[in-house]
Amino acid sequence: MKDTFYVTTPIYYINSEPHIGSAYTTIVADVVARYKRLDGYDVFFLTGTDEHGQKVLQAAEARNMSPQAFCDELAGKFQKLWKELKITNNQFVRTTDEIHMNTVQHFIKKMKENGDIYKGQYEGWYCVPCETFWTEEDIGKEKICPSCGREVKRVKEENYFFRLSKYNDALLKLFRENPNFVQPDFRRNEMLKILEGGLRDLSITRTSFKWGVPMPDDPEHVIYVWVDALINYISAIGYPHDMEKFEKYWPADVHLIGKEINRFHSLIWPAMLMSAGLPLPKQVYAHGWLTVNGQKISKSLGNAIDPREFVKTYGNDAVRYYLLKDIQFGRDGDFSEENLITRINADLANDLGNLLHRTQAMIKKFNDDIIPEPYENDTVDKGLISLAKKTVTAYKEYMDKLKFTQALETIWELVKYGNKYIDLTEPWKLGKLPDKKERLNTVLYNLAEVLRLVSLMIAPIMPDTANEIFKRIGKQAVENFETLEWGRLEAGLSIVHGSPLFPRIDLKEHRWVSRVSEESASKKAEIEETANLIEIRDFAQVELRIGKILEAEKIKKSKKLLKLQIDLGDLGRRQIVAGIAQHYEPEKLIGLKVVVVTNLKPARLMGEESKGMLLAAKDGQKLTVLTVHRDVEPGAKIS
Ligand code: MSP
Repeated sequence: MKDTFYVTTPIYYINSEPHIGSAYTTIVADVVARYKRLDGYDVFFLTGTDEHGQKVLQAAEARNMSPQAFCDELAGKFQKLWKELKITNNQFVRTTDEIHMNTVQHFIKKMKENGDIYKGQYEGWYCVPCETFWTEEDIGKEKICPSCGREVKRVKEENYFFRLSKYNDALLKLFRENPNFVQPDFRRNEMLKILEGGLRDLSITRTSFKWGVPMPDDPEHVIYVWVDALINYISAIGYPHDMEKFEKYWPADVHLIGKEINRFHSLIWPAMLMSAGLPLPKQVYAHGWLTVNGQKISKSLGNAIDPREFVKTYGNDAVRYYLLKDIQFGRDGDFSEENLITRINADLANDLGNLLHRTQAMIKKFNDDIIPEPYENDTVDKGLISLAKKTVTAYKEYMDKLKFTQALETIWELVKYGNKYIDLTEPWKLGKLPDKKERLNTVLYNLAEVLRLVSLMIAPIMPDTANEIFKRIGKQAVENFETLEWGRLEAGLSIVHGSPLFPRIDLKEHRWVSRVSEESASKKAEIEETANLIEIRDFAQVELRIGKILEAEKIKKSKKLLKLQIDLGDLGRRQIVAGIAQHYEPEKLIGLKVVVVTNLKPARLMGEESKGMLLAAKDGQKLTVLTVHRDVEPGAKIS
């Protein structure tokens, strides 16, 4: 039976669409999965979507959709994108899948049976975009989320807690005994520091909203989205409904994640598994963050570019090659379109493209398109063969350690040497000398063999290119790594010609994918710097409340003004004069919940006192009073 290999990506929040940064983990995981499959493993590659929690709920509300309909739409978009990027995941898990939700409840029950869950009062700080609880020290004086820099919310709720602190020592032991449990080392050390400082128990339920998995036996509580999400790694492979499959693939060989979610995967998740009595994953690998053209990826900067745009312009394989070669896996890196083009022109069009083109042209010219039988190898050939063998060994070592940049560098030494080998052996001269036919055949065979080995090695990273090169040298499609050794190419195959694999990109006539947004991003950044931006405390000076209109009447002699009596809850009842008479019949306003500025200095308009102001949106000539889409009590504060 084949050995198994289980690789996962984080499951993505579906509050917004994927960009090149979120596609990064999935592309890397796909490279790992393809590599292991070629290496003979029975691979399970899992990705999916994280669909519960307040952030997704808010995104659905903003679109006026039910959370489930919203999730269905967005999950579909992720699935479609992965298909287009030729991602070979074995499954796509969704946290709203019934099977997953049952597993979450089962898992929580196990933790409870183990005495690890108790009820308590949570009072602290919560970051909705990160769905993360923070301590007072974490958020500092500014009360800002240390992960995303946004404002945190004060939360006070009765919650269930997980005794995370109980597992502090066991985790320390795990880290000390398995130095590779978290990689790279500097990320492991960050986690060790947290452990050495001591873990606190974790609040694992919420009661302020309902969009989540209900707590078993207490459905007023929904399970904290991170606890729910982490369990995807086992619900998707059969825990506990298909234990045979689960036991086949679990523990995961590697969880690939971004650096900002390391704590959840390296500390909380193993502790949860210990509590439920399950084996731990073998490794968590936390990679760095991508910027685009030097800037943080964000919707507001306009650089959250759909990865499809790059793929359409440069090709899927070229984008994959660039990401794996230029961004050192584990470190932060910049996705620069200029560098991508440089890689395409230098490495792909020039080095690899030339080697293929020259080899094919010579086999055509000197041997009627047939790969010849090699004869004796001389010293130059032996140099090439020895380099090829060394390359294969180094390549595997690097790939096994997820050192993709180095793996590709190694392959490219061979590619470059292949081109040099042509210059050294001068086949065009050999072709003119009939008594050198055997020598010529050896050279041609060796070149085709280099191409075969190179394409096999790049297959996990550039699957289409690898298949295409295989076809060009007369083979069907990429085989597995059993044939990843020198001399396995069969002589006698007929080569197939085709257009250049990677045409050179001429910068003069080039249409950039990110230039436009680069410009708009810098423009926006400029505007942000110079415009009259206000501080949050400036905004906080305006007191906004929900008011209920109790009475409304026209003011005599005024075409524009209406006199309103408004219930403002604890602030009592107030009269406000509003300039909306041309847009609303007074009686239509009665009962409406509106947004009121309550700390405006009182004024007299047409002899009537006005204590506050209504907010309204102006659309051309039309004025629309702001209301709320759900029932909110009069007096409720707006922030
Ligand atoms: N839903 C959680 C994960 C739960 S896993 C049990 C989550 N989702 S996320 O959508 O916010 O992020 C998913 C992944 O995308 C993370 O690994 C994150 O690091 C990655 N990236 C998002 N933007 C990124 C960049 N700009 N660069 C690289 N990766 C980034 O967290």
